[in-house]
Amino acid sequence: MTSLKIAVLPGDGIGPEIMAEAIKVLNVLDLPFEMESALVGGAAYDAFGHPLPDATLKLAKESDAVLFGAVGDWKYDTLDRPLRPEQAILGLRKNLGLFANFRPAICYEQLVDASSLKPELVAGLDILIIRELTGDIYFGQPRGRRTAVDGHFPGSEEAFDTMRYSRPEIERIAHVAFQAARKRDKRVTSVDKANVLETFQFWKDVVTEVGKEYPDVALDHMYVDNAAMQLVKAPKKFDVIVTGNMFGDILSDAAAMLTGSIGMLPSASLNAQNQGLYEPSHGSAPDIAGKGIANPLATILSAAMMLRFSLQQADAADRIESAVQSVLAQGLRTVDIYSAGTTKVGTREMGDAVVAAITKTTKG
Ligand code: IPM
Ligand code: MG
Repeated sequence: MTSLKIAVLPGDGIGPEIMAEAIKVLNVLDLPFEMESALVGGAAYDAFGHPLPDATLKLAKESDAVLFGAVGDWKYDTLDRPLRPEQAILGLRKNLGLFANFRPAICYEQLVDASSLKPELVAGLDILIIRELTGDIYFGQPRGRRTAVDGHFPGSEEAFDTMRYSRPEIERIAHVAFQAARKRDKRVTSVDKANVLETFQFWKDVVTEVGKEYPDVALDHMYVDNAAMQLVKAPKKFDVIVTGNMFGDILSDAAAMLTGSIGMLPSASLNAQNQGLYEPSHGSAPDIAGKGIANPLATILSAAMMLRFSLQQADAADRIESAVQSVLAQGLRTVDIYSAGTTKVGTREMGDAVVAAITKTTKG
């Protein structure tokens, strides 16, 4: 088998700790990985003066997949925007063309009580948010600051961004959503703000057109404000949600919280060649960095997604996912998902338990 090249970018905060556990898990799979690490985010800024050094970007581009930890720390908040850790992730998305972001929100049976919603609302929850990741107001030009020539206060200082989507950008993410739905419950909800925004009336029109190519998939449309409401009212009614970059950013955080365990949720960002960046849905949690208590499961599950989507190793992905199920069934919990009657473990113990569960299935 040709080697599978993985760029390992641990980043900041709890990033290095959780990444160490994911690497440990990958290493017991006995696959020909070629892993190379590089600095990213604040750690890269400290060492090289830039959150996404050329060498890191080059490594990412040359790899089959990128396994990413997390970036950011309050201490970088006063830097100029282009030097902040978040720019590393935006730069990777843009430079690798990672337009399709998969954010599953799954409520694990054993963790139903960790949700802030009533158990009956979230038990069995399994939704998939597909967020367009390289367009919209995040990347739209022009943007900047200037003196207003019109508006409510002409002559005053103002800032502006540009929301825009082209037809091909909408078409390709719509195809991704319909194809993903075919492997699930065959339902897509496209989330927009067509009642107010030109960009999202166009979004809705184009998604509707693409939907005609998928007569087996049911398509409905929802305004983003209503979608936010429905997510906390009756989240199980959704199957696949497809939406733009900014709405997807907001709704995916809400959806993650429904599961009560953002520390458990992986995510994948893919380009047209299926090259992908895989990262936990949570952030760098600088407040608990270095304490050995962070939950490594989202990163471990991101590694499983990586095996499935970019490295064509579905069996290995299954083995990781069953191992995670099995450690949860054993009652092991990091502090973020701990509840009475379960066993509290640290980051490393959790990683070790996943490794043990994998080795056990291999031998047995
Ligand atoms: C996310 C994050 C990023 C985003 C930030 C860190 C730039 O919130 O991945 O959801 O807004 O996309
Ligand atoms: Mg976000």
